[in-house]
Amino acid sequence: MDKIRIRGGNRLNGTIQISGAKNAALPLMIVSLLTPETLTLSNVPRLADVRQLQRILQNHGVDIMVAGKRPGQNGMMGDVKQLSAKTIADTLAPYELVSKMRASFWVLGPLLARCGEAKVSLPGGCAIGTRPVDMHLHAMEKLGAEIEIEAGYVIAKAKHGLKGAHIKFDKVSVGATHAALMASVLAQGDTIIENAASEPEIGDVAECLVKMGAQIEGIHTSTLRIRGVTSLHGAEHRVIPDRIEAGTYAMCAGMTGGDVLLKDANAGHLAAVIDVLRQAGVSAEPTNEGLKIYRNGQALTPVKLDTQPYPGFPTDCQAQLMALMTKANGTSVIRETIFENRFMHVQELARLGADITLHGDTAEVHGVKKLTGAPVMATDLRASVSLVIAALAAEGETMINRVYHLDRGFETLEDKLSACGADIARIAGN
Ligand code: EPZ
Repeated sequence: MDKIRIRGGNRLNGTIQISGAKNAALPLMIVSLLTPETLTLSNVPRLADVRQLQRILQNHGVDIMVAGKRPGQNGMMGDVKQLSAKTIADTLAPYELVSKMRASFWVLGPLLARCGEAKVSLPGGCAIGTRPVDMHLHAMEKLGAEIEIEAGYVIAKAKHGLKGAHIKFDKVSVGATHAALMASVLAQGDTIIENAASEPEIGDVAECLVKMGAQIEGIHTSTLRIRGVTSLHGAEHRVIPDRIEAGTYAMCAGMTGGDVLLKDANAGHLAAVIDVLRQAGVSAEPTNEGLKIYRNGQALTPVKLDTQPYPGFPTDCQAQLMALMTKANGTSVIRETIFENRFMHVQELARLGADITLHGDTAEVHGVKKLTGAPVMATDLRASVSLVIAALAAEGETMINRVYHLDRGFETLEDKLSACGADIARIAGN
């Protein structure tokens, strides 16, 4: 297994290209199941999760081609992928594949909508919380599917097709909103999805569906109105920039001081993160090219916040903010309201000298003067990158083990950071 070695203390200066959003690219790839024609996606990040989903989609019969790069084209500009689900070869999503990546469960809605049946493995355990799928199933039932759970599989049937419905979620779920949206675009009649998640990644999927012929109103709001159509056609769509990757590098720059341009970051998607960075004493200025982040000598100020669904502060940036606050001038209070177990990074940050106390869903982060490098373990995607942030400001060497978690969601992380002056290297495993 590869490791990442970081020697802390260098300021970051330069430009970091923000990749396409993982959490938009994955559902967009799944959308390809809804049409026999070709969906062409550009700016698809090169990530382990994307490769894993590719295997799952190929198992359903999706033909996937990756277009090459022209000479001189920026190597960090993502892939162009053509996905063609001319015929669905298999409506089974097996445990071996689904258990490796939760988002693959989201094939349930499109398979049901297109084929009238699907058998999808329940995703199983997860490091950040229990993460049930009851809301996904509730939405499919509302749309007229019959659902049974048997031997770890969801067996869903809609012999006469799905029917439009009024779906009102009792809490905000990104995945359940994707599922309801992807299924209802091909249902007969009208669907209303109330209390829908309004994350930019859902807006991106909805915009792509509209290009494919879907009829959707209320995109980017918490009420989606869908008029079902009988078929969708092919389209071309560019994946939005990754707001979580941008937020992460903003915290790297804030942690080390220096001056970094996050090229192509969408400041509009990052309002809550920018607000918190500014409260913490980190400057964030939207420019024509992206977002400029700098901190020149000013001390880091502690912050108090809760994670919230969009447009609130994202749970996917909580671990990174906590790493930043380990060096603030005082005590920060960070409450995690989305996932009950998303504090696995706390013990690992403590190995670098962080002083954090946990009280249920709330972490009190007492800023320290100095962090010191140590061997640490990556536990999940965002937790691992919080260790990178702390290590960039720690004295001496940090060795991060189990970096496959990082590879799931950060494209060429060590290249992007070392180009801005970080002392970071990947040590290949045996
Ligand atoms: C998406 O996960 C993201 N994944 C997560 O990103 C992100 O942390 C999360 O949304 C919240 O923003 C992708 O986009 C691929 P949810 P998802 O359904 O859809 C509960 C990352 O690091 N819930 O919005 O699985 C659930 O347990 C990741 O990139 C139910 O109770 O999250 C949680 O408490 C990890 N029943 C809350 O809702 C359900 O049926 C929100 O989860 C579904 C969810």
